[in-house]
Amino acid sequence: MTQVCLMGLGRTGMEIARILLEQRDIKLVGAICSDFTSKAGKDIGEILNIPDTGAKVYTSNQLKTVIEKLKPDVFVDFSNHKATMKHVKLISEHHAGLVIGTTGFSRTDLMRLMVLSKKNQSGILYAPNITLGVNVMMLLSNIAARILNDYDFEITEAHHKYKKDSPSGTALKIADEIEKGLEATGVEVNEGIPIHAIRAGGIVGRHQLMIAGENDKLEIVHESFSRKAFAAGALRGIHFIRDKKGFYEMRDVLDLEKVLASYFEKRRIALYRQR
Ligand SMILES: NC(=O)c1ccc[n+]([C@@H]2O[C@H](COP(=O)([O-])OP(=O)(O)OC[C@H]3O[C@@H](n4cnc5c(N)ncnc54)[C@H](OP(=O)(O)O)[C@@H]3O)[C@@H](O)[C@H]2O)c1
Repeated sequence: MTQVCLMGLGRTGMEIARILLEQRDIKLVGAICSDFTSKAGKDIGEILNIPDTGAKVYTSNQLKTVIEKLKPDVFVDFSNHKATMKHVKLISEHHAGLVIGTTGFSRTDLMRLMVLSKKNQSGILYAPNITLGVNVMMLLSNIAARILNDYDFEITEAHHKYKKDSPSGTALKIADEIEKGLEATGVEVNEGIPIHAIRAGGIVGRHQLMIAGENDKLEIVHESFSRKAFAAGALRGIHFIRDKKGFYEMRDVLDLEKVLASYFEKRRIALYRQR
């Protein structure tokens, strides 16, 4: 049984709590919110509008007590980057696993996360793009850039109007994968890949990559229909990080490189047999 504590019980955290409560091999032991939250002391069930769960909501300042009393094996963080940076040292020092779904970290923040995981030999999964489909999209973007290296690449992302960071961390990562793909074929990327960001209504999350040539166009689109997509990724993350030490990303969880290597290996063998 893996004991899990949520950090952040907002739009995404609440959806993840619902899914965690359905799991037989996971016990949701508590949730941490902001210091002045009206949710403090309440049962998580009351927040979710379901029967009591026995797991309560704590404030950010109660983190040490939560760690010592509830002994979570893994924290799942969907709060905000300042809160994550405030909590990560204590979590890492106590060797609890940490799945970070929160976005908006600076390069310095990320370096600090890496250093802490190494210094304390604790497991940190950095997953600013936790849905399974979007990770496949990143891989496909890299491959497309290698093949269509003289085409134009444009990313458009759309999210709900409350999303603070713009462009999304996922769009930046897709751009990064395209650049890596282009550079692998010797193309110099001087100006970054253009990203257009839309913040409107209740859009859960949409990323579109347009790859346009002179005579044809390819599009890769990923769309999350509900926040359950984030919960599915978080579940994979929890099981992955449970007994790990070090800093990881979703590509490690999904082992995409291995999938790809096995595809090409099988193709190579098939072609060899055809000769
Ligand atoms: N990785 C992904 O694929 C993915 C998907 C969706 C969202 N996200 C990211 O997840 C984060 C949360 O998004 P959201 O839409 O769920 O936000 P949200 O609805 O605003 O919820 C934020 C939660 O964080 C809590 N919080 C604020 N300060 C805190 C602190 N110091 N300690 C602990 N908790 C604190 C809030 O507490 P109160 O309830 O007390 O206000 C609230 O419960 C954002 O960074 C978003 O970009 C990532």
